[in-house]
Amino acid sequence: MSSKVQKIVICGGGNGAHVLASILSSRENTETNVLTLYQDEAEIWNKAMENGMLYCLLPNESEIRSRPNKISKNPADVVPGANIILITVPAFSHEEYLRAIEPYIRYRTIIVGFPGLPGFEFQTRHILKAKSQFVSVLSATTFPWACRIVEYGRNVKIIGVKNYVDVAVIQDSSKGTLNPIELLQSVLGSPPVFNKTNHFLEHSLMFAVVHPGLMYGRWKYWDGIPLSEKPLFYQGTDDFQAKCVTDLDDEVQGIAKEISKRTGVDFRGCLPMHTWLVKSYGSAISNPCSLKTALVTNKAYEGMVHPMKEVKGGYVPDFKHRYLSEDVPFGLVVVKGLAKIVGLKTPVIDELIRWGQQKLGKVFIEGTELTGGHLFETRAPQVYGITSLKDLRAVMGL
Ligand code: NAI
Repeated sequence: MSSKVQKIVICGGGNGAHVLASILSSRENTETNVLTLYQDEAEIWNKAMENGMLYCLLPNESEIRSRPNKISKNPADVVPGANIILITVPAFSHEEYLRAIEPYIRYRTIIVGFPGLPGFEFQTRHILKAKSQFVSVLSATTFPWACRIVEYGRNVKIIGVKNYVDVAVIQDSSKGTLNPIELLQSVLGSPPVFNKTNHFLEHSLMFAVVHPGLMYGRWKYWDGIPLSEKPLFYQGTDDFQAKCVTDLDDEVQGIAKEISKRTGVDFRGCLPMHTWLVKSYGSAISNPCSLKTALVTNKAYEGMVHPMKEVKGGYVPDFKHRYLSEDVPFGLVVVKGLAKIVGLKTPVIDELIRWGQQKLGKVFIEGTELTGGHLFETRAPQVYGITSLKDLRAVMGL
């Protein structure tokens, strides 16, 4: 790593923020601060750290002991001077954090959505306005560490680390220095290895398919009777669920092809979900012959169950879980918005949005139109005034 001190701010106060705070504070040549705007998390975390260190237990049972420099609720305390800002909160909180850090962002700061999720590109551009031209903005497809807080502010456990994480570069303002992905890699170490993807819109298209597809397929015809146990999420995939994911995926591939055709941008990295699963999980999948078998026989998905709430008589699905609350407004609705821009009909996506919005108690679309009263809570491009191919081309830098 370079000898220059990297001034890092972690935005968030949850599981992911604890892991990043632990790893980054343990590195030489870093000054790591935490910004958490949520309730009294900063106060609780500071109190927990009064007489001790932050412990992070790794999957091999070894431990990192470290201490972030400063934890605060006030951006003015921790953001000025930062050259790397990592945002690791659910997508619905991205806006609050982006608005909070915006006044303190300086030339060539790197901002990472960790993960960014669909529409992060439109939102950062909208909130940072002119500043978005002189910072670097990255969007990771996922958070590399599966992790859980054991004791708030003191103890966090890493359950697993992904070997590779795809990262899209939304804006690169590095000049003659390490590019933003190299810098991210140098401060975080590996694994994970960060891979640069072809184009940031590939993310926005690809990753909205699996969670809503599996949720819809499993619960659309549920009779409302509590279950005695939680069903497996991926490994329990049946034919109908696999068809729901495949039908969604086919529409997504059609949108990618159309945008590619109309803009000349290469979207070959926007892989069909079956291809992506086999490529990403390799030998962990014992039968890769179809989408269904790739989900059902993937060892990495062992033990992962549907999000459920315990009630009298068993378990019922938790429709407010991020598989719908993130993946519909910050996933399918963004994809629908892109389809609208290129004039494609999306009957499957529309049906899933209508079902998902009803479970969430929101209205994003009415019929097939993006006119619902809660549309402004989503990151559809239309929310940011991107309504035509010309607007989209401008965002894509064409
Ligand atoms: P978390 O649920 O532990 O943390 C959420 C944090 O976000 C809270 O501690 C708080 O600081 C902030 N927050 C929550 N609600 C808020 C609100 N209404 N207003 C303002 N701030 C609020 O989430 P976690 O586990 O840290 O995950 C962060 C992101 O990483 C999420 O998008 C999640 O889906 C993703 N992710 C997490 C993984 C994990 O193992 N923790 C694995 C893969 C992805």
